[in-house]
Amino acid sequence: MIRSQIRGSGSALPRTAVTNAELAERVDTSDEWIVERTGIRQRYIAEDDETTSSLAIEASRKALEAAGIEAKDIDLIVLATATPDQTFPATATIVQHALGCNGGIAFDVGAVCSGFLYALATADSMLRSGMAKRALVIGSETFSRILDWEDRATCVLFGDGAGAIVLEAQDVAEDGPGVLACKLHADGEHNQLLYVDGGPSTTQTVGHLRMRGREVFRHAVVNLAAVLEETLAATGFVPADIDWVVPHQANARILDATARKLGLPSEKVIVTVDRHANTSAASVPLAFDAGVRDGRIRPGDLVMFEAMGGGFTWGASLVRL
Ligand code: UT7
Repeated sequence: MIRSQIRGSGSALPRTAVTNAELAERVDTSDEWIVERTGIRQRYIAEDDETTSSLAIEASRKALEAAGIEAKDIDLIVLATATPDQTFPATATIVQHALGCNGGIAFDVGAVCSGFLYALATADSMLRSGMAKRALVIGSETFSRILDWEDRATCVLFGDGAGAIVLEAQDVAEDGPGVLACKLHADGEHNQLLYVDGGPSTTQTVGHLRMRGREVFRHAVVNLAAVLEETLAATGFVPADIDWVVPHQANARILDATARKLGLPSEKVIVTVDRHANTSAASVPLAFDAGVRDGRIRPGDLVMFEAMGGGFTWGASLVRL
């Protein structure tokens, strides 16, 4: 059977890390509040010359190098972002041109913090259907550009960065490696609990992120537990089979609550929220790459990706490396 296999990963962070203490010098907050409520200790903030595309290009180059695959062999780029360089063209086309693989398919997907899960599921379907052979799946964000730095309830939570994986269609046995299942959901009833108050068609401004944090938190725990169970049920695995959970990094308390609901020890959860904060669509591939590069995530491991974000949108994917 044809499955999409993860061949390599890469990530990129802006040059500048901003600690909670540094943030507390310009926002009415404290290191203690941020750490206790979120687990965040620092975030990376892009300088003027660092953009969603430049971070995506750096992450993609590293992923290609790790995969041992040349850019010219990539015929599909799916880039998840809510902070594109421009309203259009798709940031994926800017990445495609910089990498030198023009001619294939390239587009962006918008599902905010679940964007990487949506991009992975899309690329996986296209590879399995034969539309493409080798894909770059990227999550890249510069959320610092859409934060209201006067709103302490949101501006302390987010950071910038990018992560990428190379997926390749391979003919494998039933119990072979690859993307085993992708489950996606959206519930538009809640589209105003986490949103940006601007856009080309309404205000003609870029706008700022707005969030009713407590309500988002409540939905996140319930929805993530449900989609994880759904993904396991679809593949016949049980929580104890999972080697690593690579979750969207919004809040350490959400990560703990989700692991508890599944009965998974917290040592099986890759956590980067302390260093990266919430990087929206970039957080899952950034965390995955961190786990691969520090040697925890290894070939043959069973890895669960999961995320929930604005829309609401949420999803999970189970992958055998
Ligand atoms: O990525 C997409 C998914 N996003 C999420 O999953 C985020 C989910 N939500 C959360 O992580 C949490 O709800 C937050 C971290 C955003 C907030 O934590 P909370 O425990 O729900 O706090 P809260 O918003 O209810 O605020 C509690 C208090 C308030 O003060 P009063 O009204 O109790 O006096 C806030 O004004 O904390 C205050 N507060 C702050 N204090 C210091 C809010 N932000 C800050 C801050 N520093 N930065």
